Amino acid sequence: MHVLFLSPGFPAEMPLFVRGLAQVGAKVFGVGDQPAQALPAEAREHLADYLQVRSFDDEAAIAAELRRWLAGRTLDRVECSWERLMYLAANLRAEFGLPGMTPEQTLVVRDKERMKQAVEAAGLRVPRHGRARTQKEAWAVAERVGYPAIVKPIDGAGSQNTFRCNDAQEFQQALEKTRAVPELSVEEFVEGEELTYDTVCADGRILFEDVSWYKPKPMILAQNAWISMQNIVLKDIHAELPRPGVLLGRQVLKALGFQSGFTHMEWFRTASGEAVFGEIGGRPPGARLVHAMNYAYDLDLFKGWAEAVCYGRLSQDTSPKYNASMVFKRAQGPGEVVTEHRGLRELLARYGRHIATIELTPVGEHKKDWRKVVVGDGWIVVRHADLATTLEMSEAFVRDLTVVAG
Ligand SMILES: Nc1ncnc2c1ncn2[C@@H]1O[C@H](COP(=O)(O)OP(=O)(O)O)[C@@H](O)[C@H]1O
Ligand SMILES: [Mg+2]
Repeated sequence: MHVLFLSPGFPAEMPLFVRGLAQVGAKVFGVGDQPAQALPAEAREHLADYLQVRSFDDEAAIAAELRRWLAGRTLDRVECSWERLMYLAANLRAEFGLPGMTPEQTLVVRDKERMKQAVEAAGLRVPRHGRARTQKEAWAVAERVGYPAIVKPIDGAGSQNTFRCNDAQEFQQALEKTRAVPELSVEEFVEGEELTYDTVCADGRILFEDVSWYKPKPMILAQNAWISMQNIVLKDIHAELPRPGVLLGRQVLKALGFQSGFTHMEWFRTASGEAVFGEIGGRPPGARLVHAMNYAYDLDLFKGWAEAVCYGRLSQDTSPKYNASMVFKRAQGPGEVVTEHRGLRELLARYGRHIATIELTPVGEHKKDWRKVVVGDGWIVVRHADLATTLEMSEAFVRDLTVVAG
């Protein structure tokens, strides 16, 4: 099995997918825009070969360079776990005549309008929505959608340039703030809890599925520096809270005709218990969520994904073992350098056995820019078979741990 993997060294989790592929016996050929020496060791060790391209933007040049570099070596797959390069991956598959997501299938997991149209056409619940390339179009959609509305880029990420608008005046302000965004998605704002539905699929079959629960919603997180976010991978996906999203998610995958690889869907659960589609990516979730899933299910989904895309199966035990809550911390205080992990010792003493991982910006180091680094100044995963106990521990890390930048 020869796999071409795009950008094996960046973002942070890519080397783990490379490792997974190598572990299931694939020969991995990496293509990236960093020099080979700059690759993280984990990626370098598991690559059979690496090609540095000048830029990912010139697709024609990449295809030509690839042909020269491969020099007769054949490929079985092109894989990419980074949102930004998914179109490139699809175009390369078309160019080399390889299986996997086509450009058209990629569009419905990248373009927030196209995905909602496809999901809606299957009779599933999506927010009222519309595409807007101009202010005039935006106002026309807002009229139809009503308030509160949401304004966001059609292919955004990380809740950037995403605004809730309670009335026409706020809508006007949001349009001003998003002037630089070429195309917007304007939607009905859906009140409720926000959760994910993630899978690993092979040939249209779901081999693994999970639900995680965002507290608070990512948009709130992106707008408030002081918040410690929790993302809880739920052990029982058939419990009342996650269940509607599992049913919705399975139907969404069918509606989109999704075949192989990771999927990451976000959905809202309204007060009445209805599941409303949010968005879907045909790629793994970011922000360490795959790690949290691994801790909840006690397996290695980097490897599981690799096995699924290469051989159409996932042979690890996929039964859930724990609820796993991941907490992100952001340094607090006026300083630039971390001076203290306040409350840490007590928390370790109290919950040590249930902490799956903990990584904080060390004392003496510069604090991170939380707008750029989603995990901020630390991430912690606590896990327990009982959900209430998990939530209690998780809340304790939110409340009683402060990464201080004095
Ligand atoms: N229709 C909506 N109703 C309520 N909240 C929304 C809606 N659309 C987006 N949001 C909020 O904005 C966040 C970012 O939007 P999303 O479509 O997930 O884009 P991305 O994650 O690619 O930035 C969501 O996680 C959610 O918190
Ligand atoms: Mg999102």
